[in-house]
Amino acid sequence: PTKLRISEALSGAKLGENVKVQGWIRSVRRQKSNLFLHVNDGSSLQSLQIVAGSQLSDPLLTFGSAVEVTGVLKESPHQKQPFELEADQLHVAGECNPMDFPFKIKERHSLEYIRQFPHLRCRTNAFSSLLRIRSEATTAINSYFKENGFVQIHTPVITSNDCEGAGELFQVEVKNEEGENFFSVPAFLTVSGQLHLEVMSGAFTRVYTFGPTFRAENSQSRRHLAEFYMVEAEVSFTQSLEDLTKVMEDLFKSATEHVLAHCAEDVDLFHKHVTPGHRDTLDVMMKRRFLVITYSEAIDILSRSSQKFAFPTNWGCDLQTEHEKYLVKHCGNIPVFVTDYPYDLKPFYARDNQDNPAHTAAAVDLLVPGVGELCGGSLREERLDLLRARLEEYLDLRRFGSVPHGGFGLGFERYLQCILGVDNIKDVIPFPRFSNSCLL
Ligand code: 4AD
Ligand code: MG
Repeated sequence: PTKLRISEALSGAKLGENVKVQGWIRSVRRQKSNLFLHVNDGSSLQSLQIVAGSQLSDPLLTFGSAVEVTGVLKESPHQKQPFELEADQLHVAGECNPMDFPFKIKERHSLEYIRQFPHLRCRTNAFSSLLRIRSEATTAINSYFKENGFVQIHTPVITSNDCEGAGELFQVEVKNEEGENFFSVPAFLTVSGQLHLEVMSGAFTRVYTFGPTFRAENSQSRRHLAEFYMVEAEVSFTQSLEDLTKVMEDLFKSATEHVLAHCAEDVDLFHKHVTPGHRDTLDVMMKRRFLVITYSEAIDILSRSSQKFAFPTNWGCDLQTEHEKYLVKHCGNIPVFVTDYPYDLKPFYARDNQDNPAHTAAAVDLLVPGVGELCGGSLREERLDLLRARLEEYLDLRRFGSVPHGGFGLGFERYLQCILGVDNIKDVIPFPRFSNSCLL
């Protein structure tokens, strides 16, 4: 028999032929003369119906057990599915006692509940959909960059720099055989690949990286993880922040369109059952041009608001999640770029606008509904004399044909939260790491 994935079987491939499928039982129904199983193998949200004569019935065929089935694919007489597999062999490859299994058949459990079972949540519809969407979104993002002439750079995971200067580093402490520090210098897990991209942007006008980043943020928030995936791009010969905001908006829309086209069923599961109502929010994001306001305008809007904030706002303060969410609502739930933050709020690399009396940097954050900050970026300070004052170490990058450039980082998990409407970032990553938690 030909081995088929269940998505292939459901598309009608190999109709009438002898095939073999493998997967996990999602439901069992025993009748007098027949046995009906639904088997899922992760290739699709849908399960394949297996019909078998009761002589193949086995008490080990239970919810959760792993099975291998051979038989003939036929058109199904039932409305619900177009095809079913008429089994002539059923083999239980892995037993499962359904009484011990934490998820019950046909019950819809909350994302919060299934999060307690990091080894089993991939067996639920919602989380397996999430993982297929996450995989497709990765492809979508890589395709966007490929189509737009960006070269992918594998920036290192271990580094000696603290790019953001926020001191949220995980130190890598390894000793060599002599008991000395392995790298001779203090080494850390990367918080951002930006500085390595900046190096490459001295030879490539468009580069990007997409990998894990690490921050020891002691935050139990719904949008921070200790390990998250970041998409970072760097563009040389930039004129203004518009060169970056255009890439961010195009990337968001193009990747999302791709996901909607290739994972329609999985996305629908979220928009209909997990986060109902979110589809309308997403449709608005996709249809409308993103807005642009300056930080000063944002502060105006916030100080005119009648809403009481836990953190009061005044020019110079950093925007908190509550402020970011308010601004997005105020803008009609359309993603909004906030530009030109106070110089002192941004890392050393942000380009000085040299303005007066409000001293700002050419930095931009993209704020989106439900999440707040999705991207952070800036033009980079390429002027040696201005940088010298700020950081000695950064200087050598500017000595050999330095051109205006800029870039941004997009938090991949926050992107998934944004398109799916998922409230907690721990529900969009296979194995979340955050303070006091490193399960599995
Ligand atoms: O704003 P951030 O800190 O910017 C940088 O790291 C720049 N060096 C990027 C660049 O210009 N190349 O981080 C970028 C994005 C944030 O907007 C947010 O979406 C996400 O990364 N992010 C996190 N996501 C999950 N958990 C955390 N702890 C995150 N910290 C940042
Ligand atoms: Mg930021």
